[in-house]
Amino acid sequence: MTPLWSGRFDTAPDAAAFEFGASFQFDRRLFEDDVTGSVAWARALATAGVLSRDEARQIEQALTEILERGRSDPSFVDGSDEDVHSFVERLVVERLGDIGRRLHTGRSRNEQVSVDLRLYLMRRIPPLQRDIARVAAALAAQASLSGDALMPAFTHFRPAQPVLVAHFFLAHVAPLRRDHERLAAARAEADALPLGSGAVAGTSYPIDVEALARHLGFSRVVANSIDASSDRDFAASFLYACAITMVHLSRLAEDLIILCGDEYRFFELSDALSTGSSMMPQKKNPDPLELVRGKSGRAIGHLIALLTTMKGLPSGYNKDLQEDKQGVFDAEDTLAGCVAVVRSVVGSLTLNRDRAESAASGLLLATDVADYLVGRGVPFRRAHEVVGGLVRKLAAESRDFGSLSLDEWHAASDRFDTDIVSRVTARVSVGAKRTPQSTAPAAVEARLAEVRQWLAGVVG
Ligand code: ARG
Repeated sequence: MTPLWSGRFDTAPDAAAFEFGASFQFDRRLFEDDVTGSVAWARALATAGVLSRDEARQIEQALTEILERGRSDPSFVDGSDEDVHSFVERLVVERLGDIGRRLHTGRSRNEQVSVDLRLYLMRRIPPLQRDIARVAAALAAQASLSGDALMPAFTHFRPAQPVLVAHFFLAHVAPLRRDHERLAAARAEADALPLGSGAVAGTSYPIDVEALARHLGFSRVVANSIDASSDRDFAASFLYACAITMVHLSRLAEDLIILCGDEYRFFELSDALSTGSSMMPQKKNPDPLELVRGKSGRAIGHLIALLTTMKGLPSGYNKDLQEDKQGVFDAEDTLAGCVAVVRSVVGSLTLNRDRAESAASGLLLATDVADYLVGRGVPFRRAHEVVGGLVRKLAAESRDFGSLSLDEWHAASDRFDTDIVSRVTARVSVGAKRTPQSTAPAAVEARLAEVRQWLAGVVG
């Protein structure tokens, strides 16, 4: 294969070094975007008077035919070319000869790879956002299904306070909504046309970059050609959005691994999404969730790898930047695979209401007992101390608040009255919450309604 730049050299490139530098095996994924960018460039060259209308039309026709071939037969997008840009240009030249050789006028692969990756992300981010919203929809459906069921919420992974099961599911919707926004921000960052930057200094042809941007669906043009040739911030932002989404999916997976496990069994994993052991017949393992948790490491790694690649680069394009693509593609694939499996797992969970509710009472009502005293004029710090003493006694005797006689309550504080027994239950605790972000049933209902409204807007 003769590289695009062979004219400068006496000898053919060293085969191994050429192979080492070639990116076609992975940047072929940008094939469609490369063709889209080239069609628009040919038109822009014609508008600028660099190509005749007829030449531009022939180039566009050839590119369209190449795109159709590549779409109907992915194995067509292959060869010993250095990269996808060289591949597409070679095919145009093979079809049109000298007319094809005019396509690269005023353009550099440095800006081409940037425009391709930007176009790629702009079209691939929305499906990822939709998939994330579908996980949120599965969580919201579980929140609805759980009705007024209760479970403990944890801090320090110790049972802390009773909450609605719905509140727990919505707690996993909230970060996914932020991820959805972060992906929108990454897309907005990619949304700038780099063409017109040339190799680094701009182009000498009168290209109407604003029109070209509109034609390609960009809402703006980059500010500086030197920066444009080496800017991969948009790719890093995408990787960050993927990495933190994976962190959230991993934490959801971790919650479900524990809460579906034998010790808690608040939820049951469907058999179809569990795995067995080759040796221990009793095992029902959450392998898909463990893999989601494990794969978060890959996504985080891709972000760190790109930032590390970027940090030492001098201004302008450097070949190091070629290392951006595999991480971007793998982060996308990893995230897409994980959202699909998490959505299935969440959708198939069943609630063991008795298990969840019985874990939501007992000593974790201590804060409510303290609040009862506060309601009777006791300063909170003092109430905390009184209830702490009660908890110490009850824990030592393996009892809980329900077993205390009125005398025992009074021994702790004369402010306790007969209504304390009916006031200290998990359901009263949940119903007593007053803020919109709390687990109070009316608050949770309102949040759920708002989540449903958001979902209707983003997934329909
Ligand atoms: N394959 C290259 C990349 O991914 C395309 C740009 C090549 N430019 C260059 N001057 N070698 O970054």
